[in-house]
Amino acid sequence: MKALILVGGFGTRLRPLTLSVPKPLVEFANKPMILHQIEALKAVGVTEVVLAINYQPEVMLNFLKEFETKVGIKITCSQETEPMGTAGPLALARDKLIDGSGEPFFVLNSDVISEYPFKEMIEFHKAHGGEASIMVTKVDEPSKYGVVVMEESTGQVDKFVEKPKLFVGNKINAGIYLLNPSVLDRIELRPTSIEKEVFPKIAAEKKLYAMVLPGFWMDIGQPRDYITGLRLYLDSLRKKASTKLATGPHIVGNVLVHESAKIGEGCLIGPDVAIGPGCVVEAGVRLSRCTVMRGVRIKKHACISSSIIGWHSTVGQWARVENMTILGEDVHVCDEIYSNGGVVLPHKEIKSSILKPEIVM
Ligand code: GDD
Ligand code: MG
Repeated sequence: MKALILVGGFGTRLRPLTLSVPKPLVEFANKPMILHQIEALKAVGVTEVVLAINYQPEVMLNFLKEFETKVGIKITCSQETEPMGTAGPLALARDKLIDGSGEPFFVLNSDVISEYPFKEMIEFHKAHGGEASIMVTKVDEPSKYGVVVMEESTGQVDKFVEKPKLFVGNKINAGIYLLNPSVLDRIELRPTSIEKEVFPKIAAEKKLYAMVLPGFWMDIGQPRDYITGLRLYLDSLRKKASTKLATGPHIVGNVLVHESAKIGEGCLIGPDVAIGPGCVVEAGVRLSRCTVMRGVRIKKHACISSSIIGWHSTVGQWARVENMTILGEDVHVCDEIYSNGGVVLPHKEIKSSILKPEIVM
């Protein structure tokens, strides 16, 4: 079986992290986002993943080469010369996706995190006999997503409306599809949207089916959602593989600590924290609802909440970093500084406090 991951886009909503690496390579819970997907695909028998990409393919491929052998899956790129949207890339990769077997293939948005119930999806797809299956999930704020109106009992989709202005329902497209090869015959080789131009047509012919995704789901392409996504992911890890979570008197709730990270005396860490490889967390530090990427040093008695600390940054002693502060790669926050929602570009030194949310260039 094959799969295509839509990797294009500049990841602007996840800057400054995406100034250092393409969005799919930004770590989530100590692993590049895209690897969560590739490993889950491999687990259901996918043998080849095509990355539909429109910028920096070398960076992605160099990085993923080592995982090809580790995970045991073929990874190839299909590169666009202009952004082809969410359907155009499928037409461009047509020859890579069709292998004569007639089997359906997966298509994923690269920024969605869930338990990836691909096995259930394959069963669902076989059972309904339509042309395409999509996963849907319920959200409170559906207007920023693709909304799906479906028949509850069969899953048959009546309507697919991308980013509706008026309320049509609260079940939204989760960005995970299983498509028959015939869907490719519906897509022209030009920039085009699967949500606006392809799904509505298949739905009108009653050949589009939706399955309500079991478990959690989040689009982690924006800092706030990334942090919420980490909470949901760690919750699910607690239920499925709790031995991966940290334990001890200094841990509160769900916390992931890389084995090579060092935690000092008298810290209080959690809930909902991920600490990456090689990090040094000095004595008396307080961390909650945050991600600390590879190689970060957090000095004594610093306090970090609801924030993301980029690779190889340092946070000075007694500093207080909170409210969606996002530090890019190699940022240095001096001692006793306060950051309230600062978004700091890579390689900066922060010598004075950031009192309200702003971008520091
Ligand atoms: N190759 C390629 N080329 N990929 C692209 C392009 C392009 O021109 N444009 C976007 N993508 C990729 C993005 O990288 C992402 O993985 C996916 O297509 C969806 O694009 P987003 O920009 O993240 O869309 P969205 O989050 O606003 O909405 C989409 O996702 C929602 C779920 O998170 C839609 O599919 C909605 O219907 C859906 O509800
Ligand atoms: Mg998105």
